[in-house]
Amino acid sequence: MDSEVNNGNSMRALPGHFYAVGVGPGSSDLLTVRAVNLVRSADVVIAPRSRKADTSLALQTVKDLLDGQEIIDHVYAMRRDAESTVRSWARVAELVGRRCERGQSVVQITIGDPLIYSTSCYLLSQLRESLPNDRVHVVPGISAFQASACLFDEALTIQEDRMTLMSATNLVRVEEALDHCETLVLYKAGKKIAELADLLSRRGLLDRARVVCYAEQPDRQFVSADLREAANARHGYMVTVLVHVGRQAWQPGEAGSE
Ligand SMILES: C[S@@+](CC[C@H](N)C(=O)[O-])C[C@H]1O[C@@H](n2cnc3c(N)ncnc32)[C@H](O)[C@@H]1O
Repeated sequence: MDSEVNNGNSMRALPGHFYAVGVGPGSSDLLTVRAVNLVRSADVVIAPRSRKADTSLALQTVKDLLDGQEIIDHVYAMRRDAESTVRSWARVAELVGRRCERGQSVVQITIGDPLIYSTSCYLLSQLRESLPNDRVHVVPGISAFQASACLFDEALTIQEDRMTLMSATNLVRVEEALDHCETLVLYKAGKKIAELADLLSRRGLLDRARVVCYAEQPDRQFVSADLREAANARHGYMVTVLVHVGRQAWQPGEAGSE
């Protein structure tokens, strides 16, 4: 990897290179310096958004950095269909390949981190076949679960705690996970809040849950320690639930420093 690539303070997007860049949870001051430099200097910025969304949240987050970059608004269907997902991202991968061959630099922006439940993961796996490894870069972003946890300032993990991050879509799996971690982080929880409240109430954990909708997104953020209250309002897709299941203290005789 190029030495310039590791210097976040001065890093510019290089001709012929692709960058999957995490832009954090939605506030322009939670971008990394590296993300700012790359978005500013890119020739092309790909901003994925779902068919249901009017605008790309990631694009909103970086709007003040845009000044002449070509913006590619990639609209994708949020379908649980592996084949059409692969096809859709294959088309974007081709486009990225063509731009990079022409010597342009391409950045794909993504909410949170690019390797956590992100459309970048599909594009990265396709690009592995068309671009040399040293031309493909991933830039971490602050993930929604980190931003969400900070709004309550309760530790996510200490000592020997286990944290599980998963989708809330399958409640059988969610219940299984409660038996195997001290902190459970649930993404994609928007449509499941009422059912989650029932499940956690049955498990005696209702008062251990926290809900964060649109963390760090100006005018839309909603935060609650009351799942039932949150279930009564419709909050859409950007909903994260944190459950502080318990604590796993240091085991006697084992070393632990944090
Ligand atoms: C496709 S995933 C994107 C995750 C993202 N790559 C990350 O690292 O956080 C979408 C899910 O992330 C969570 N999410 C993303 N941004 C959020 C925000 N600002 N506030 C609360 N939850 C958010 C929600 O659970 C949402 O359903």
